[in-house]
This record gives sequence, C-alpha cells and structure tokens, in this order.
Amino acid sequence: MFLCLFVMFLVVTVFSVMLWTQCINADIQPQQDFDLQRFSGQWYRVGLAYDSPEFVPWRSYVQVSNGNITSDMDGNANLTVWGTGLKGCMCRVYYYQKTDLPGQFNYFSDRHQILKDITVVESNYTEYGLVVKYKKIVKEFSQVSLYGRSPTLRKELVERFRNYSLSLGFSADSILTPLFVDPCSDCGH
Ligand SMILES: *[C@@H]1O[C@H](CO)[C@@H](O)[C@H](O)[C@H]1NC(C)=O
Ligand SMILES: *[C@@H]1O[C@H](CO)[C@@H](O)[C@H](O)[C@H]1NC(C)=O
Ligand SMILES: *[C@@H]1O[C@H](CO)[C@@H](O)[C@H](O)[C@H]1NC(C)=O
Ligand SMILES: *[C@@H]1O[C@H](CO)[C@@H](O)[C@H](O)[C@H]1NC(C)=O
Repeated sequence: MFLCLFVMFLVVTVFSVMLWTQCINADIQPQQDFDLQRFSGQWYRVGLAYDSPEFVPWRSYVQVSNGNITSDMDGNANLTVWGTGLKGCMCRVYYYQKTDLPGQFNYFSDRHQILKDITVVESNYTEYGLVVKYKKIVKEFSQVSLYGRSPTLRKELVERFRNYSLSLGFSADSILTPLFVDPCSDCGH
C-alpha cells in the first residue's frame, strides 16, 4: 500500500515536472516587432549556455567569437561566424530561413542532421541580443547566446543572460562568459 502510494507520488511528480518543462518551452517567444534590418551587422558572442555532455571538454576553450548577420529582402538571414579551429582561423555560415514569426528562423544543422529553430528573444539592436537555439530545450541541441555589439557588455546584461539560462534549466556550469576575444576576425586570417 505504502509502496503503491509512493510510486503514485513519483509518477505525479515526474509528470508535473514534464508539464512544467512544456510550460517553459511555450514561453520562448521572439522579440515583439522584430526588425531584422536593425539586427543585422557585426556581433560578438559574449556568452554561451550549452549543456551538451559532448561539449564539456571544450568549455575551457570557448572565447568571445565574432559574427556577422546579413539579411535579404524576404526576411532570411545568414550568420557568418569566425573562430580559431584546429587549422587556424575558420569561418562557418549558417543559413537562417525565416518562419511566419518575425524573429524566429530555421536552419539545418549539418552536425546533428536535424532542423533547428533560432529565436531572437530580446534585443535592443545597438547593444545586445539574447538568442535561443532549439527552444524545445534538449541538452544535446539547445543553446542560449548573448550577443553584444561590443565584446564586453554591462554586468546587468550578463546577469540577465545567466538568470534566463538558469530559468530554462541550463546548469550553472554550462553558462560560459569568456574573458578573451578570439583573435580571428575574418575567414582565413
Ligand atoms: C557584414 O556583412 C555586411 C553585408 O554583407 C558587409 O558589408 C560587412 O562588411 C560585413 N562585416 C564584416 C565585419 O565582415
Ligand atoms: C546567404 O548566402 C548565400 C550563399 O552565399 C547567398 O546566396 C544568399 O543570398 C545569402 N542570403 C542572405 C540573406 O544574406
Ligand atoms: C540599449 O542600448 C543602448 C546603447 O546603445 C543603451 O544605452 C540602453 O541602455 C540599452 N537599453 C536597454 C533596455 O538595455
Ligand atoms: C538575477 O537573479 C537574481 C537572483 O534571483 C536576482 O537577485 C537578480 O536581480 C537577477 N538579475 C537580473 C539582471 O535579472
């Protein structure tokens, strides 16, 4: 009898946690009246939250990386990022396809061979941006990034990024705010 009640309690608890997770997911919405033109141009990735177990060994190598967002008339975007790789400076381009919701994009991840969504949750365009990748929040795929127009941001914005990542279930250890800027600022240089 007691065992049975205990099992019921466990089931209910687990189920509530699952429902709660669903609730958090539903809350990830893009910035109101998102303006892609204003979001375009150069950004630094000042913060990264990424809880993938595979990524743990790489955490200490993360630097503030450079990126550039271009947009077309249709509302699609390309993100070019530069960073130090095994063979020196490397760049990678992500093709972000617009969705019906301004501020939300889709792209195909070559690495994981799945379609991922990108949501610009918050940005004031001239200073910072808070971007969620894979809003279903799955350890292997989901990331929160803090973008800055400059490589360092006000403490309050960094704290907001940290709080937001924690609220989505990211572990404290997975939230990285590197001190050093990657020296690569152009492909192959
Ligand atoms: C970013 O892209 C725009 C549009 O293509 C280009 O004019 C600008 O030079 C690029 N910035 C960098 C740093 O590459
Ligand atoms: C993205 O890059 C591709 C390939 O270079 C180009 O054809 C496309 O016009 C670019 N789109 C945007 C939105 O910059
Ligand atoms: C937006 O960016 C400007 C800097 O360009 C800054 O002065 C302002 O405080 C920022 N607004 C918010 C809400 O963070
Ligand atoms: C972050 O969370 C802490 C603890 O809940 C709170 O005291 C602080 O004001 C929050 N900071 C921001 C910028 O939201």
